[in-house]
Amino acid sequence: MIMQQLDTLTLIGLILAIIHFGTPLAYYYYAKKKWLSKPWNIKTNPNYKPKTTIIIPTYNEAKTIEKKLENIYNQDYPKNLIEIIVVDSASTDKTHEIVEKWAKEHKDVKLKLIREPKRRGKAHALNNALKHATGEILVIADADALWPRNALSEAIKWLSDPIVGAVSCLKYPEKNDVMSVEGDYRYYYNIMRVAESKAWSTPIFHGELAAFRRNLLVEIGGFPTDIGADDSYTATRIALMGYRAIIPEALWCMEAVPSNGYPRWRVRRAQHLIQHFLKVIKLKKSPREFRKVLYMEIFLHLINPWLLPIIVIILIISTIIFSSLFALATFILGSLLLALGQYRTWLSTQLFLLIAYLKNLVTKEIVWRKQEK
Ligand code: GDD
Ligand code: MN
Repeated sequence: MIMQQLDTLTLIGLILAIIHFGTPLAYYYYAKKKWLSKPWNIKTNPNYKPKTTIIIPTYNEAKTIEKKLENIYNQDYPKNLIEIIVVDSASTDKTHEIVEKWAKEHKDVKLKLIREPKRRGKAHALNNALKHATGEILVIADADALWPRNALSEAIKWLSDPIVGAVSCLKYPEKNDVMSVEGDYRYYYNIMRVAESKAWSTPIFHGELAAFRRNLLVEIGGFPTDIGADDSYTATRIALMGYRAIIPEALWCMEAVPSNGYPRWRVRRAQHLIQHFLKVIKLKKSPREFRKVLYMEIFLHLINPWLLPIIVIILIISTIIFSSLFALATFILGSLLLALGQYRTWLSTQLFLLIAYLKNLVTKEIVWRKQEK
């Protein structure tokens, strides 16, 4: 009897482990093989130069805002077609003074500063800016992320095809050497974003550079203020309307990684992604290729992480209570694998998602603490 129980329990643990590790691996190889090599099926026109509004949301960005404005100023896009809106939410540092001074010194580019009297989160600020934006294309630009000189024209090039509704960038961490987990994570993550984009669209966007057709944003009622991942949710809505929301392979942004509190930063972002996918579940799913991507990402973000603690508990019970040698061996193998960087990266990502789930029960982090980069 005991033998039978032991076998069943260990077997369940094993099956769950195969699902937990096998599903993302299978998805990765499937996406790489089936989608990554596919043509984009998008007709781009490099001469398409619409009027573009760049929105920079700021909260206490005195240290970075001037660099970011210069970064936009130095883009290889016609200055007379650029409108910058800085929307500041009651910063307590000198952000607005720096912006006002910069605007006075750079009269050849249109800049509007909106100052919110109270901080109510990034999405709230973006919606505020949206009311003032006049460009055909709207680009969100985080203050602490720098773009290569061709980023704006590269993003807009893709929007020349009317099927494309939104475009975002790939990200590389500023300090790759110290952040090996972040670097590894980004490597696989970036491949997946491009592969999904080629399939139809990717449901994960980046506020470091996120370009949208303004009319589509207006149609969906702007950015959601009840969740943190305003960029991803908006892109997903647009993809579900039948447009493509893509991240092309040649569009990169550098992102500042906090030197202190890296886990807290990852947990907050995971919280926002979970909120996004929980909200996406309620939407009607189409087109077909995108449905596949979406269901898989929903599974990977909302369900798959939970298998991990269940597996661990099963293995512990089997080992201690039923003295299963097989469970013990599996447990030891799982621990030894920690020597592998990629395995550590995977486990830490699962851990961040699990903590994020629990933390979401307490706070949604719509207004988050500024972290020094
Ligand atoms: N106006 C305004 N109001 N701007 C804000 C607020 C706010 O309440 N909170 C943050 N911001 C601005 C920051 O000043 C920065 O320009 C940008 O929003 C992103 O904030 P960071 O503090 O740099 O956060 P991050 O780099 O970890 O953000 C990443 O995750 C977020 C979701 O968790 C990025 O991918 C963001 O684009 C994304 O929204
Ligand atoms: Mn940032």
